[in-house]
Amino acid sequence: MVVPLIVPTLLYLLLSPDSTDAEAVKILNPGEVVYDDVQVYGVVNMAVILECGTTLPDIYIWGFTKLGTDTIKAVVYNFGQGPRIQELAATLGSLAVISHSASLSIDQLPRAAEGLYTCQAFYETSDGPEFRYYYVRLTVRVPVSKPYVLLSDASPVEGSVVVLRCGLGNGTSPILYEWEHERPGSPVTTIARGNSSMLIMSNVNRNHTGWYRCVVSNAVNLERSDRALMDVVFGPDIPQIDVTPYSLTERGYSALERETVLLLCQAQSNPPSVYTWYYNNSQVNGGPSFIINKILRSHTGKYACLAHNTQLDTISIKAINLTVFYPPDGSPSCSVEPVLNHSSLSLQCSWPGGLPAPSLHWTQELLGLGQEVAGPGQEIDQLSNNITLLPEVARASNNTLFTCQGSHRASNHTAYCSMRTYSPPAEPVCFAIATRNTTYLMLSCSWNGGVPRALLWWDGPVGSGGGQPGEENSNILVLRHGSAQSGQAYTCRAQHPLMAQPKSCRLTLEAPVLVTQRSVVSVYEGDDVQLTCILRANYPPANQITWFNNHRKEVLDVPRKYQLQRAAAWANLTVREADETQDSGQYWCSTSNAVGGAEIAVTLLVLRYPMPPNVTLHRAIYSSRQRGEVDLEWRLEAGAETNGDGGGGQTPAFTGFLLEIRWLTAKSMGGKKDEGSFSEWRASVVTEAEVRRHTQGSLAPTDTYQFRVTALNHRTAGHPSAERTPADPPFSAYPAVIGAAIGGMIIAAIATILILLFLLRNRNSRLRDMLFGMQHSQSRENINFPDDEVVEGSDDFGSSPGIPAISLPRAASPIRMTSTLDQDLPTNSHALPTGDDEPVNVTITVKATGS
Ligand SMILES: *[C@@H]1O[C@H](CO)[C@@H](O)[C@H](O)[C@H]1NC(C)=O
Ligand SMILES: *[C@@H]1O[C@H](CO)[C@@H](O)[C@H](O)[C@H]1NC(C)=O
Ligand SMILES: *[C@@H]1O[C@H](CO)[C@@H](O)[C@H](O)[C@H]1NC(C)=O
Ligand SMILES: *[C@@H]1O[C@H](CO)[C@@H](O)[C@H](O)[C@H]1NC(C)=O
Ligand SMILES: *[C@@H]1O[C@H](CO)[C@@H](O)[C@H](O)[C@H]1NC(C)=O
Ligand SMILES: *[C@@H]1O[C@H](CO)[C@@H](O)[C@H](O)[C@H]1NC(C)=O
Ligand SMILES: *[C@@H]1O[C@H](CO)[C@@H](O)[C@H](O)[C@H]1NC(C)=O
Ligand SMILES: *[C@@H]1O[C@H](CO)[C@@H](O)[C@H](O)[C@H]1NC(C)=O
Ligand SMILES: *[C@@H]1O[C@H](CO)[C@@H](O)[C@H](O)[C@H]1NC(C)=O
Ligand SMILES: *[C@@H]1O[C@H](CO)[C@@H](O)[C@H](O)[C@H]1NC(C)=O
Ligand SMILES: *[C@@H]1O[C@H](CO)[C@@H](O)[C@H](O)[C@H]1NC(C)=O
Ligand SMILES: *[C@@H]1O[C@H](CO)[C@@H](O)[C@H](O)[C@H]1NC(C)=O
Repeated sequence: MVVPLIVPTLLYLLLSPDSTDAEAVKILNPGEVVYDDVQVYGVVNMAVILECGTTLPDIYIWGFTKLGTDTIKAVVYNFGQGPRIQELAATLGSLAVISHSASLSIDQLPRAAEGLYTCQAFYETSDGPEFRYYYVRLTVRVPVSKPYVLLSDASPVEGSVVVLRCGLGNGTSPILYEWEHERPGSPVTTIARGNSSMLIMSNVNRNHTGWYRCVVSNAVNLERSDRALMDVVFGPDIPQIDVTPYSLTERGYSALERETVLLLCQAQSNPPSVYTWYYNNSQVNGGPSFIINKILRSHTGKYACLAHNTQLDTISIKAINLTVFYPPDGSPSCSVEPVLNHSSLSLQCSWPGGLPAPSLHWTQELLGLGQEVAGPGQEIDQLSNNITLLPEVARASNNTLFTCQGSHRASNHTAYCSMRTYSPPAEPVCFAIATRNTTYLMLSCSWNGGVPRALLWWDGPVGSGGGQPGEENSNILVLRHGSAQSGQAYTCRAQHPLMAQPKSCRLTLEAPVLVTQRSVVSVYEGDDVQLTCILRANYPPANQITWFNNHRKEVLDVPRKYQLQRAAAWANLTVREADETQDSGQYWCSTSNAVGGAEIAVTLLVLRYPMPPNVTLHRAIYSSRQRGEVDLEWRLEAGAETNGDGGGGQTPAFTGFLLEIRWLTAKSMGGKKDEGSFSEWRASVVTEAEVRRHTQGSLAPTDTYQFRVTALNHRTAGHPSAERTPADPPFSAYPAVIGAAIGGMIIAAIATILILLFLLRNRNSRLRDMLFGMQHSQSRENINFPDDEVVEGSDDFGSSPGIPAISLPRAASPIRMTSTLDQDLPTNSHALPTGDDEPVNVTITVKATGS
């Protein structure tokens, strides 16, 4: 820009507002005014130099235009006579002109010195005058003073708005504000920076607690305020509960019984919380910690911690569930159950009562011959208390010890229970029993002793009610009377898990079968007869066999008539003294069992004995001249000889012979032998069936005897033979024979007396019966002697010495026989019947020498 070199114009130009903006003008042409423009900063109360060219001009004028005004006022001028400082300069601080220059120095710069200084300088140069115009713009800056912090609230509640203000006295803009935050233990941090003196914290939290200072700075300096504390009030937060020992489960915290448990509560709060503990809603403790010594299961429940901020009067609560674990009492209990149709085993173990449930697991120990395998058992299952073995495993586990181990976290020791499995010994056992009244038949099957128990079921014949459900250990099939099928097999099957194959036992039910040896039995009357009834097949065991007699009445054990002998499998009925009219007929024996009944008939025929054969007494000869004994011989008449007793079960024709004797009793007194009459026939001897000869002793030599023989058959006697009188032998030896005869007679008499005494004392004995027969014998007509005469009478004859005169009949041949030899014979002397007129009395002294 070209300015005319005229001072007023210049001044004018200088005063125009635009000129302040004008840049220093370069002198492009000589004679042109040169403009120079400089910005100078000064600080209040400090010194500043305002330059006006580098060389001293010949003339210069300093003007001053206060900011905001447009009037230029002269401050200093020098038209060659030295500088002249105007009054105005006094308001601009201690202003001085630096010597040898046109520059101004201002000390103690006041704020009022700020403004535009213009220096118009003229230089006389060889090229002509030079005019320069210097614009010096002075800005006076004020340093910032020490700031201070103002808080809208020194204890704000968390969440509220807090305004921080940085108070500042003076200072030149622009001013930078910085906010520093300091917390104990943390480095100082600058949290804000800007041109605002205010810091607005819209949502203070606990992290904002701490000291705040503001730092202000401008182009001159930097100042820090003192710290101001902000204490944020908050809480309590939701408390945190720490449980020691720590054990968290799905049910909350847990503790083991008898432990000491520490509960610690912490809730963030400013000021710090006040704590209260509650158990199941009732207060138990104050303070942050709660100690339970030896906790018990009854201490299970809800524990709540309440935190209280007394300043804010706010609370917060936290509750925990604390469960006290305790072990179950006692020991686990084991069982082994059959499963899968008794083909396998299920092991079950339980140990109730603990909290939480204890852990249980099974082990197995195979036992060999009563000796335990050393070491721990084989583990079957770690996880489950109930397990089902595979059938193969079950089968191999005979005599195995299964142990269930129980452990619980609240207990140190492990508890056990165990079970040993066995197959039942032996085989299943079947049997049938009937109810007493045989209404029902029960088929019982049992197989005991197995662990676990075996399963038993019945398989009957088709349509017999088999196939009903199985039962353990024993199974009873109940059949109604009559529904049992005779001859059919009922099978009981038994299954045990330790056995691969079922076992079985079977019953065959059978109605009783009765048999007898002979269905027609004959007996000779008077004899006893035994009827036999034998039980053959029968199952279950039949009732006792019952006999019914020929009148269809049940036979009881009537002592005189019937004798009943019974065993399980037979019953013999003895009919005593069979009587043709009373006892003949059909007898029945019967029995029954639950399956059925049976009876059979036995016909009893009572027979009469056959007539014994006729006998001939063909020889009767005295053995000596003394006529003391007679040899007798007889024989059967033709055709009957071969018969004897014991012939192959057939009724014998005869069983023996009766030899009878009689003698002639003298009638006249005259000593001569007159015609007398014979005595009654007296039995002399009864012989066996095979005997055909007999020697009759004890005869009086002078008497006349007659003998006869009759064949006997049990109770029947035959026709007697023709009587015979003995004849004399062909030679004689009288005296010797008589002597011998007397001796023999004595001994025979003694023997006879002994027998008779025996009979007297045992009047009712069987021997007597045998000898003398029954009262009602059917054969009485032939052998019919009164019983009691025997008592008085005594034998006066006998056989040869040493041989009893009477040979006893066999038991089966009871013959009544009576000896009624003369009453008049004295007992201890023997008077031989020698006739009336010549009685011979002989006294005999008994000697025990025999012969
Ligand atoms: C700054 O201000 C204070 C008062 O606020 C005053 O006393 C002081 O003189 C001033 N300083 C300056 C250099 O203006
Ligand atoms: C000061 O603050 C205002 C408003 O926030 C802004 O416009 C300006 O640029 C700031 N000046 C400086 C120097 O930071
Ligand atoms: C406080 O500071 C911590 C760590 O510096 C932080 O985890 C937490 O969230 C802060 N709290 C709030 C309310 O901001
Ligand atoms: C506390 O509460 C728990 C759970 O409701 C309960 O089992 C327990 O018996 C209670 N205890 C007392 C002492 O009431
Ligand atoms: C505590 O137990 C009760 C019932 O037993 C349940 O409702 C509640 O949620 C449990 N509390 C905790 C913290 O587990
Ligand atoms: C058990 O036995 C019955 C009859 O014997 C049979 O029908 C059934 O299928 C069996 N069950 C198993 C699981 O073997
Ligand atoms: C174990 O067996 C017992 C008895 O049979 C039964 O009550 C229980 O529920 C079973 N437990 C499991 C887990 O199978
Ligand atoms: C099972 O063991 C018992 C006892 O040791 C034995 O008597 C029985 O015979 C065994 N059974 C089988 C099927 O081996
Ligand atoms: C567990 O055993 C230890 C030592 O063996 C003993 O001191 C403690 O009392 C036992 N605890 C229980 C709950 O029995
Ligand atoms: C057979 O005995 C059973 C009980 O033992 C009884 O219930 C039943 O009525 C009896 N039957 C007869 C026919 O007496
Ligand atoms: C019953 O009779 C049978 C057959 O006759 C016979 O074998 C058995 O010995 C008799 N029993 C008695 C005790 O007489
Ligand atoms: C046996 O003797 C009697 C009489 O003495 C006679 O009547 C009978 O005919 C004789 N019997 C035989 C078979 O000779």
